[in-house]
Amino acid sequence: MKTYKIAVMPGDGTGPEVVAEGLKVLEVACAAEGVKLEKQNFDFGGERYKKTGETLPDSAIEEFRKFNAIYLGAIGHPDVKPGILEQGVLLKLRFALDQYINLRPVKLFPGVDCPLKDKKPGDIDFTVIRENVGGIYTGMGGQDRKGYPNETAIQIMKYDRYVVDRCLKFAFEYTRKRNKKKKLTLCHKTNVLVFTGDLWLRCFEEMGKKDYPDITLDYAHVDATTMWMVKNPEFFDVIVTENLFGDIITDLGAQIQGGMGIAAGGNLNPEGVSMFEPIGGSAPKYTGKNVINPLAAILAGAMMMEQLGEPKVGARIEGAVTRALTEGKIKSQSAGKMGMGTRELGDLIAQYSA
Ligand code: IPM
Ligand code: MN
Repeated sequence: MKTYKIAVMPGDGTGPEVVAEGLKVLEVACAAEGVKLEKQNFDFGGERYKKTGETLPDSAIEEFRKFNAIYLGAIGHPDVKPGILEQGVLLKLRFALDQYINLRPVKLFPGVDCPLKDKKPGDIDFTVIRENVGGIYTGMGGQDRKGYPNETAIQIMKYDRYVVDRCLKFAFEYTRKRNKKKKLTLCHKTNVLVFTGDLWLRCFEEMGKKDYPDITLDYAHVDATTMWMVKNPEFFDVIVTENLFGDIITDLGAQIQGGMGIAAGGNLNPEGVSMFEPIGGSAPKYTGKNVINPLAAILAGAMMMEQLGEPKVGARIEGAVTRALTEGKIKSQSAGKMGMGTRELGDLIAQYSA
């Protein structure tokens, strides 16, 4: 039996609740396809930080390297100053494991209420490939005369060709494999960010023309992208973009597919250890109430299996989610309004995944 070692990091807030449902579904779907998961739990996050002052030790990174994938709930705690856990746990993992792609599909499932009411499933079905370790997130820059009236702050958007090229290569390959419109849109802001924009656009056009004649090349500024995502989402097949723009447009993407409750993502190192998570945060106000929507975590589990090379397990779980949504059993994607609890929804998807 094919066995995968999964590091489970439930994290903070509602993370543990949604991860529990995700694991419940994975268990059933994997068993049905003859796949075994060997799980180990890790308690990194806000609670541990409060107790020990430790975010994520370097030894944990070495530990994580021994796994096939990491299944993450959410990182972020109301009692911990913003930035500490984000940088100390989440970004540290992304950087140390070189998870250079952030894969964020935007897909309207049947039965999901979308703010763009007249759009149907099929109209909203594209994937954002976000460069995940470069740009402004590298933390270059500095502050000068902090606290004085004339203080200054600089934050640098840095990209090198290697980081841009490997992200573009993944995006082109992904677009080809997805085999839908075969169109790749580069999203940037070349009219203002003339240096990094120029680098991305030149790399994009060179690679596209040379190696991917079957893929249609498209370009959109990031501001226009947000507009098209709402006005004409059917325009998109795959969008590739730099780190900060990707962060911003995927929150919008999560909303047009029905909300954070259903939006899943993967931090991929295609040659190493990847990490899968619901895109939403730790939702402190819903914690422990059995009201959070576990679908995003469940779909992140499906994505994990697909990326591990078990597309049948992934399709089985996505099929189960699609069935439950089509039947109209899930009233809303918002926490507390699903018409059932977190555990009951997890049970339903697990049953349909069998
Ligand atoms: C995300 C989050 C993170 C990011 C934060 C928590 C650092 O917003 O995964 O999209 O900005 O990348
Ligand atoms: Mn974000």
